[in-house]
Formats: sequence, structure tokens, C-alpha cells
Amino acid sequence: MSETKDLERMVEFEFVRATENAALHSMQWMGRGDKEAADEAACDAIKGMFDLVDIRGEVVIGEGIKDNAPGIFLGDKLGRWGEGDPRFDIALDPIDGTSNISKGMPNSISVMSAVLVPDGKERSMVNIPSFYVEKLAYGARVERCILNGTIAPITLDDPFEQTLEQVAKALGKRIGELVVTILDRPRNQPYTDAVRRAGASLRLIADGDITAAVAPSLHDSGIDLYVGRGGAPEGILTAAALKALGGDILLRMWPRDEEERAELLKTLTPADLERVYHRDDLVHGDSAIFCATGISDSPMLPGVKLIGKTAITHSILMRSRSKTVRYIKAVHDLEVKTIHLRSLRGEEHL
Ligand code: FBP
Repeated sequence: MSETKDLERMVEFEFVRATENAALHSMQWMGRGDKEAADEAACDAIKGMFDLVDIRGEVVIGEGIKDNAPGIFLGDKLGRWGEGDPRFDIALDPIDGTSNISKGMPNSISVMSAVLVPDGKERSMVNIPSFYVEKLAYGARVERCILNGTIAPITLDDPFEQTLEQVAKALGKRIGELVVTILDRPRNQPYTDAVRRAGASLRLIADGDITAAVAPSLHDSGIDLYVGRGGAPEGILTAAALKALGGDILLRMWPRDEEERAELLKTLTPADLERVYHRDDLVHGDSAIFCATGISDSPMLPGVKLIGKTAITHSILMRSRSKTVRYIKAVHDLEVKTIHLRSLRGEEHL
């Protein structure tokens, strides 16, 4: 591959092809109650796509470990790994919202991120070893107000009502006008209670917190804040999106129980466990690519639409270096469209 300053520019569209194919290939499982089959179909399409791409990609954040589903695992290699091909750290969730797809519900996407690993550097993304993390994500306007001192920095330890006041001030809204998204789980009850007490508007979601955490950084989502305890890999993928969109995510490990805490403390110090990571601590440098394709409708993207022998996909593709955010609508002719699958080592008609 020829020398260029923005190596990620040369391959960014391959990532869209991969998430598009994952979305198209997993659609056959929509509403059929088999989330593992959907996940497997997405993984097969992503691996198959990268079997055609000249990169040396290593999965540093995968989701297989989370739910023992068939997955693309930590350490898996994507790409053709030719000598001299650019090296990328890859984070991915072949389907965020597998339960949603299995029930035919909204809010599932296929999502990937990649960051160049410069020569001599070990890693460009940080893998957080806990199952869940505490997360709080806000958009670029709130970030600017923190940087210029209009509001104090937001922390994960502030009473949540205080955080709502700060965000409302930054956005020039009343607290009652704020919209907060939270993953609907018992462990997030303290946040849900605080939002209700403060009188802000609440949007609980069943699954899929990447779209929810990216939403405050999208100008047209109508969501002001995301908070709660959710999956760790999803937090890193959110950070990758915010590198281009602006806004920040605060993230801290949240061990589920004493057993997990003790396990984590075998390799980490108590201070490591307490550390609060921000966007740039999680995803280094300025070469991040973030890409997602909608499977079912979400605040970020419409889902796949099947119209006769045509499929329409919507994807978002962004690079942190240029901060260009592309919305890509693709029309696929299913009479001729094939996708490359790892399981076949070849092409399949959809
Ligand atoms: P997957 O579809 O990748 O399994 O994740 C769905 C999801 O809702 C994530 O978006 C979220 O971070 C995590 O699961 C929450 O985990 P849990 O369902 O165990 O509460």
C-alpha cells in the first residue's frame, strides 16, 4: 500500500461494506428469536469482508467474551495481513442489540471502529477488562462549556441532580426540558430515580446503548445525556464515535460483585479500578474510523428496508482526523448482490 499521511482514508469504505454486509446477512434472523444465529451471521459477514482487505487488523475490543455468543474475539485477526499493510486496532460489536433483532425490535446496529497503530506502538485503544462500566456521555456543546469554564467539569461522583443542573446550564435549557437516556436495568435504578426526582424527561431503552450514548453528540437526536451501567466494549466504541463528533464519555469499571472485583484485582490496583477514563484515554491519536449500519431503526440510523428484490441500508462513517461525518444510503440489488463469507471462503447471494 502506498505511503500517505491518512492511511485510514484508504480503507474507511471497507468498514462500511463490512457493517452493511453484517446488517444484510443478519436480517434473515429478524424477529425469529435466535440472537446467536443473528450474531453468527453478522460475524461471518464481517470476517469474510476483511478476508479481502489489505490491512493487519487485530481485534482489541470484541464482544464474544460478554455473552458467550459466537463472536469475534479478542486477539482475532482481520484483514489479509500482508507485509507492509497498515496495522489497525479494531473494536467491534457485530450486532449491538442482539436481543432487539431476535425480537424484531428497534435499536440494533452493526458497528466497528479502527485506529492505526503507529510503528513502535503497542496499542491505540484501551481494553477495559470489567464486564460492565459506569458511563456518562454528553455532546460537544457541554464539552465546550466545561473547557471554557462556563460549567464545572462533570464527574461520576457528583449527585446526578447536580449533573443535570450543569448540563441544563450548558445547553441553555430548563431541567424539565432535558432528555436523558438510560438502559432499563435494576442496576440503573438510582439514575432513573434521580432523573424522575429532578423532573427531566427519561427515555429508557431495552438494549443497545451505543446509539444511546452517541445520541447526545448527534445534532438531531433530541437526546441530551446518556448515563448508566452497561457493557464495557460498547463504551469504547462510543468513545471512538465521539472522537469525530465531539462530546465526551466518562467511564469507570463497575464490577458486578465481589467475585469479579477480586478477579480484577489480581491484575489491577484498587486505583486502576477507580480510574475514570475519558474519550481520549480510551481511543488514542487522531486516526479513528467509526462506522455503523442500522439493522433496525435507532436514534442514530434507520434500519434495513427490504423492498421486493432491493435492500436499502443506512450507515454512518466518520474519521476523527478530518471530523467528516458521512451518512451513506446504499441501495442493494438483491438479484445480483453477493457477500463474501468467512464460512464459505467465498461469495453468497443474499
Ligand atoms: P449485545 O447485543 O451486544 O449483546 O449488547 C446489548 C447491550 O444492551 C449493550 O448495548 C449494553 O451495553 C449491554 O447489552 C448491557 O448488558 P446487559 O444486557 O447484560 O445488561
